Amino acid sequence: MSDETDPLAWTRDYTPILRSLAEEYGDDEPLSDYTVALASHLEQKTGVLVETLNEAGADVLVTGSEPHSTKAEVVDTLRDQPGIETFVEAGMSEEAWEAGQHDLLEREPDFILDDGCELIAKVHADHPEIARHVVGGGEQTTAGITRLEAMEADDVLEFPVYGVNDTPMKHFFDNVHGTGESSLSNVMITTNTMLSGKTVVVSGYGYCGRGIARKARGMGAQTIVTEVDPRKALEAHMDGHRIETMEAAASEADYVITSTGNRDVVREEHLDELQDGVILANAGHFDVEIAIADLEDAAERVTEPRDGVTRYHLDDGRRINLLAEGRLVNLTGPHSNGHPAEVMDTTFAMMFEAARDMLAGGSGEELAPGLYAIPDRLDREVAYRKLDTLDVAVDDLTERQREYYEDWEHSDSAF
Ligand code: NAI
Repeated sequence: MSDETDPLAWTRDYTPILRSLAEEYGDDEPLSDYTVALASHLEQKTGVLVETLNEAGADVLVTGSEPHSTKAEVVDTLRDQPGIETFVEAGMSEEAWEAGQHDLLEREPDFILDDGCELIAKVHADHPEIARHVVGGGEQTTAGITRLEAMEADDVLEFPVYGVNDTPMKHFFDNVHGTGESSLSNVMITTNTMLSGKTVVVSGYGYCGRGIARKARGMGAQTIVTEVDPRKALEAHMDGHRIETMEAAASEADYVITSTGNRDVVREEHLDELQDGVILANAGHFDVEIAIADLEDAAERVTEPRDGVTRYHLDDGRRINLLAEGRLVNLTGPHSNGHPAEVMDTTFAMMFEAARDMLAGGSGEELAPGLYAIPDRLDREVAYRKLDTLDVAVDDLTERQREYYEDWEHSDSAF
């Protein structure tokens, strides 16, 4: 296939870490005895991860994080490759997508690379016999880690899971820069508006919100942050954003962008405050952060003035614009390409390493069921690989420096 006909060709050029992993493990195929299940937004970058796992020898079972972000051309390309099976179609109903997840799990994967803890929760709830034979898992999102923590607290986890989301190489880059840039660019493309000089309210000042707020300000917007955690609010304040409650911020907002992982961040009581023409977008969890039912209840009429924009006409004449039906604006809008490939390259390299380490590195046999931070050695290895692809060198600690770190007395005689 040429770069005109192969839907993954462009993305491969921007995922050099995954390419380097495929080169390193393509001959020995350390995953050749294993079946790896993968749930992720099934577009081009995920396609390259699937190929990489497959090139390292794994049989790969693939589903989407949700049907709306699935790209038909990627499914078609993967489906034709030996050792890869897809369980999702673009535009399929949520019921069919869920049924596909169960079909996938019934194929008894050895390892589950998950998004939002969807497959891991389902295998425990509905296929407990299969869960008992899973070697391990990896989870890439904040929301998924929260669910895994709840499973661990209930003592129900049957296998060890690496929390890929919590590694520096994931959240410093993917959540901050990936979500930040891709959310704002999708808001602008979908609305054909500019942020410069506007007031952008960002809800949640975690990794994602921080990226969105900083980048919006970098583009000339006035930024207001809403938070529930006093330390995050102070951090936003020290970073130069205004802090307000949603009730106060709503009346000033040209845009409200949510990224909290929580529900009903914009809800009935805020609707009275919103200005005519305000643009609401969610960059956080699924479709729950903006209370759509409250918008529907308040509207006397709903129109779709542009692709990807739902407009709620309130009876006092104000119009409230909701992007991407309240789903993740960077992933499910009509123009969305998801995170930039260079950022997903890092995250997916961590996912690959999670699987390789537990399956072929043997750590899955050593670990009791539970949620684990991904080992620092793997995080560093991916960071070094990334630096290599950028042709950037860093210093090494000298032996004396290493000893200095390790010696708590710092005695003169030793140095
Ligand atoms: P985080 O935990 O670092 O930050 C979330 C912040 O929201 C916290 O500071 C919390 O105090 C705050 N918060 C919670 N409820 C709130 C409320 N009602 N009002 C205001 N603030 C509230 O999480 P992170 O990594 O920033 O992720 C946020 C969400 O974005 C998660 O659901 C995550 O799964 C999702 N996500 C989305 C991506 C995308 O592509 N759109 C990529 C990565 C994560």
